[in-house]
Order: sequence, then structure tokens, then C-alpha cells
Amino acid sequence: MKNSKEIRIAIIGLGMISHRHMTVIGNLQAEGYPIKVVAAAEIKPDRLKAWGEKYGLDEKDLYTDFREMLKRDDIDEVEVCVHNNLHTSVATAVMAAGFPCYSEKPMACSYADAKILYDAQKLYGQKLAIQISSIYNPQTRIAKKMVADGALGKIYHARSVGHRRQGRPGYDMPFFSPDFLDPKIGVHGPLFDLGIYHLAQMLYILGMPELESVYGFQSCDYWTNPAIDKLVNRTVPVEDLGVGLARFKGGLCMDIYEDWAIHMDDIGTSFIAGKNGGLKLIDVDTTGGPRTVPANGIIVGGGKLQLPRLVHFGIDENNIMFENKIDCAIGDITGQQELLIHPELDMYNDNQLHWYSYLWGDLTDETRVDSPYIAMQTAFLSEGVVLSSDLGRSVTADEIRAMSKSIAIREQETGFGTIKYDFAEYKPE
Ligand SMILES: NC(=O)c1ccc[n+]([C@@H]2O[C@H](COP(=O)([O-])OP(=O)(O)OC[C@H]3O[C@@H](n4cnc5c(N)ncnc54)[C@H](O)[C@@H]3O)[C@@H](O)[C@H]2O)c1
Repeated sequence: MKNSKEIRIAIIGLGMISHRHMTVIGNLQAEGYPIKVVAAAEIKPDRLKAWGEKYGLDEKDLYTDFREMLKRDDIDEVEVCVHNNLHTSVATAVMAAGFPCYSEKPMACSYADAKILYDAQKLYGQKLAIQISSIYNPQTRIAKKMVADGALGKIYHARSVGHRRQGRPGYDMPFFSPDFLDPKIGVHGPLFDLGIYHLAQMLYILGMPELESVYGFQSCDYWTNPAIDKLVNRTVPVEDLGVGLARFKGGLCMDIYEDWAIHMDDIGTSFIAGKNGGLKLIDVDTTGGPRTVPANGIIVGGGKLQLPRLVHFGIDENNIMFENKIDCAIGDITGQQELLIHPELDMYNDNQLHWYSYLWGDLTDETRVDSPYIAMQTAFLSEGVVLSSDLGRSVTADEIRAMSKSIAIREQETGFGTIKYDFAEYKPE
């Protein structure tokens, strides 16, 4: 909200995604929103220095040890941009130090760690949000409303899919962090990377159905290229293919398919099938919407701005089957008209603006999208796929809760010594 108190932001982890946070912050500042980055932390001194110079931060506001930064009393919220298996570690430390926290996806690399982070909100009395760009746009909003209003009738099947022909971050996309492929830091493959955008979106649209059981399969039998192995000096030790079939209470099943590199051109899109209609989701947003586009037009990490769309299939009262394209792009005329009539929806179109609006009080616990809960349930389902794949049989929701383990990093070696992360143990309910 433009007349609200200024939000003073600190960022931890100054790799690729931190620049996307900065693009959004810059674009919001240009629109007049009172937000400002006042401090940043990064364990790599060279990266820290270069980042400070790029964004004009004083040396005194740059920290190699984020724990020193958290001693300040002029910070309003902290954005956690470290890699996957450090999310629970760093985000709980942020909240324990007394700050609201906005953390990158995936929420964690196991359900146990997602639950620890979720519970930290109450434990430390702090606000938390998790980056899930796919749920902040008209495609998701319209689909969710159609499902809730019964436009599709009883839903019995959904499909959550994503794939790349060759797109392993850190391998055939070498400009991405090698940590994506590190079994201790990135931990998992595409299911926990791009897959979380598709799964979270589907669960949210479907009204967070309760999982009964899941059968999953993960594979490491992907293709690699010896020339690339040599070039980037690494192979790909995390999974590639993640497949699952989930069963939810109330007679709903969902199949899951996520791949980073497959010899196949097209595997279709996510969709929802109901007794009275079907909904196809095209170009699910995994890049964060129009405010992630900098002045030069190239989104950090590459890729084009996605314009999510929907197609509605059904049969009308005259028995005529229809296939209606629903234009849900943001930024074109249709999107602008929607925002003209409902300007308040703008804060539902951008992850970061949604978070800042929650801090300003424009959104409440009731009106905000509860990303920590959605992300935790996504981790629950993803973990079901992993456990089932390891066991070679389906697993029930109770088994996932009982078998999940905390694997988040509790000790991290850095150039200035070991950081010990002191966060709660996982206690299955
Ligand atoms: N790169 C993308 O396009 C992208 C997109 C969406 C989400 N993400 C998510 O963002 C996270 C980060 O991804 P990335 O690509 O920016 O990775 P990255 O490796 O480029 O950046 C992470 C940074 O965190 C730093 N770091 C590690 N431990 C630290 C600590 N204790 N204190 C301060 N800094 C520390 C690392 O040195 C590194 O510079 C990942 O979880 C990823 O899933 C990335």
C-alpha cells in the first residue's frame, strides 16, 4: 500500500534468485511502494561485494555471517534466498531472531522439515511466506473459483505435469547454481524444483484435498552427455524423472509427472477433469509474473514471461460440446480490465507484493493466500512419491507422517567457521 510504513528488507543468500527478488523490489519502488533493501548477507565474500556494488549498499550493510545481520534492530523482514536444504535451517533462524520471513521454494526437502518450518511461525510468533509463483495469477484464481462454484461438477481426476527437453539446472543449464544437483543441498530433482509449482497450484485449485495414499517412482536413468560431464566437471546425482499417482479423500486421484530432461517433445499440460467439465492449464507460471521482468526484458535465469491460460471443456444445456478459451493473461488488455475493476487483486498477482501487503496489514491471515500451508502439503505429497519410490510400494498418509525425517542442514562449513543451526526436531503427530 503506497501510504504505508516503509518496509526495510534484508536478504540472505545472494545467488541467482536474489536478483529476481531485487528486480521485483525495483519495479515496486518505481511504482511508488515504500520498500527498501537495507542489508544483505552472503557467505562468499566476492559475491557479497559485487552484489553490494550492483545495488548500492554500503559495506557496513553487507555481512558474510547472517547471524550478525540479524542483530540489527532496523530490519522489518528477511528474504531467504539460500538453496533448498538450507531453507528450514536459515528461515527458522530468522524467525527465532524475531523477524518475519519470506523464503524461497521448495519449502524444504522433506515433509518433516517443512513441518518444522511451518510450526516455527507459532513457536516464534512470526509471519512466514513461501515463494510459489504459480498460485499468484488469474489462471489459478479463475480455475479455483470455477472448481469451488461447481462449474466442473464433481472432480474425479487431476493431472500435474511439467517437463523440459534438456533443462537440468547446473548441468545442461550451466549458468544455474551447481547446488541444484548437490545431493546434500539441492537434494532432489525436478519434482521438488519445478514440480512444486505444478503440485501446489493443483492442490490449491482443488481446495487442498486430503491425501490418502500415493504410489511414486523416481528415476536416475536419464541421459547424460560425456562432453557436458567433462565441461561442468560433474554428473547428475539427483533424480530426474518423478512420477506419482495420488489418491485423495472423496474419490479424487491425481497423476504427477515431472522431468528435467527427457527425449520427448510434448507430454501435455496439467488439467482437471470433472463430471460436468474439464479445465486445461496452459503455461503455468513458474517465473513470477510481470514484475520479475527487468528493464532489459530478460528474466533472471532466462526464459520468457509466461502468460498462463485456461481452456474450459464441457457440454451445454442444448447438448452442444464446447471448448472455451479463457484469457487470463496479466498485463494485456484483459488483465488490465480485471485490475481496473478490482484494483485490490493486484496484490494477488505477485508473490512479493502479496507478502509486503500482508506485512502492511492490507492482507490478513484470512485474506492472504496461506503459502506456508500450501507448500507444506506440497512437501507432504512430494515426500510420498519419494518414500513410495524407495519402498517399491504405495504409502499411506499416516506412513508419510511416520516415516518422514528431518534432513535439513544443521551444520554448515563456511570460510569464517561452522554455522550451527538450532531448530526443533520433527515430531510426527
Ligand atoms: N535460480 C532460479 O531461477 C530460481 C528460481 C526460483 C527459485 N529458486 C530457488 O532459490 C534458491 C536459491 O537458488 P539460486 O539459483 O539463487 O542458488 P545460488 O546457489 O545461486 O544462490 C544461493 C546463495 O546462497 C549462499 N549461501 C549459502 N549459505 C549461506 C548462508 N548461510 N548465509 C548466506 N548466504 C548463503 C550461497 O553462497 C549462494 O550464493 C533455491 O532454493 C532455488 O530452488 C531459484
